[in-house]
Amino acid sequence: MEQGSAGQRGRTDMQRERNERLTRVGPGTPMGKYMRMFWHPVAASVEIRKDADLPVIPVKLLGERLALFRSEDGSLGLVAERCPHRGAALSWGMVEDDGLRCPYHAWKFNKSGHCVDQPSEPEGSKAKDRIKISAYPVQEMGGFVWAWLGPLPAPLLPRWEFAVREDYDQDIGVSRLPCNWLQVAENTMDPLHIEYLHMMYTNYVRKRKGLSTIPLRKHKKLAFEVFEYGIVKKRLWEGDSDDSPEWTVGHPQIFPGTALVSYHNGWNQFQIRVPVDDTNTIIYWYNCRPREAGKPKQTEVPIWENPWADDKGKYMPDQLNAQDMMVMITQGDITDHSAENLLEADKGVALYRRTLLEEIEKVERGEDPLGVIRDPAKNTPWIELPIEDEINFAFQGVQASAAYDFPDV
Ligand code: FES
Ligand SMILES: [Fe+2]
Repeated sequence: MEQGSAGQRGRTDMQRERNERLTRVGPGTPMGKYMRMFWHPVAASVEIRKDADLPVIPVKLLGERLALFRSEDGSLGLVAERCPHRGAALSWGMVEDDGLRCPYHAWKFNKSGHCVDQPSEPEGSKAKDRIKISAYPVQEMGGFVWAWLGPLPAPLLPRWEFAVREDYDQDIGVSRLPCNWLQVAENTMDPLHIEYLHMMYTNYVRKRKGLSTIPLRKHKKLAFEVFEYGIVKKRLWEGDSDDSPEWTVGHPQIFPGTALVSYHNGWNQFQIRVPVDDTNTIIYWYNCRPREAGKPKQTEVPIWENPWADDKGKYMPDQLNAQDMMVMITQGDITDHSAENLLEADKGVALYRRTLLEEIEKVERGEDPLGVIRDPAKNTPWIELPIEDEINFAFQGVQASAAYDFPDV
């Protein structure tokens, strides 16, 4: 009996430890180190224009508070936000060509984080030479500013096909969720929720509102395959033939947590989940659409808010993106995954978590995890991903979000 309860305690401790390994992203944590093996978007380029009143903004990534600034020549810098003098925020500082000055006493830091001026100190003081703050590489691509918080040398910033193709335009929807990144990202590995959250529940809500219902569909088969950049999810709907591209090709969850889904006519959407800290996650709904013939190329990639709550702060149970965000957030700030009951229907989620834990171990052994690219030949002209031509289920007529009428999957 005693042995049993000791075993029980041991198992619970292991589950708790596994939960921590999967969810915590701060510096020094196992998942935090794994996450630092990837470039993450830290802002949209339009949020940090050089002609802004103050061309510096606060950003937070993987639990680190940072200041992102743009100099007159257009180049970007990313440094720790806290001034090492007496702690004021550099994100309210003065941007100069070669660095950023603190607003409080004007200590100046260059883009490598070295303190290069302390005007409040006596002439000839060498005190500044001892002072350095964290500074990180940044690159712009596809309308985003991407940051590298990991060990140097950084690998290549992946050139995803639809983000870099000259015949595509993009826009960025932004959602800010007060919950852990994993419960956001693993939604992609749970294909069955479409039948319930997006079909059964949608119809429940629509009936209560006196609206028409949408057709229901059932999955016939599901498959998940680990590949070079993550996991491909495949589904076959009842009534579709075995050569349906949703089954023969599927679409990927790009590690660590970005889904790529296909809508129609070449419109593809990346759902980029960025861990801000342990209890906050940004989703960038990154729409990439082929440019219509004769239309000029866009000059910048616009952003728009994709809210999960209405203006009264209530969830929006009849909007598709908001439905997903409702079930992500209501799990809690960091859900206790050890208290779940994963069954047959959750095998995609189980595989995702198992694979992430294996990838964490690779990083602990000093190896590159799945999806890290160091060979320029792989990154040129762009990286193609498996993506079915077009999803094939009937949500038309149901609002997906404030900006488009097709669902996430
Ligand atoms: S607090 Fe930044 S210079 Fe004094
Ligand atoms: Fe969904």
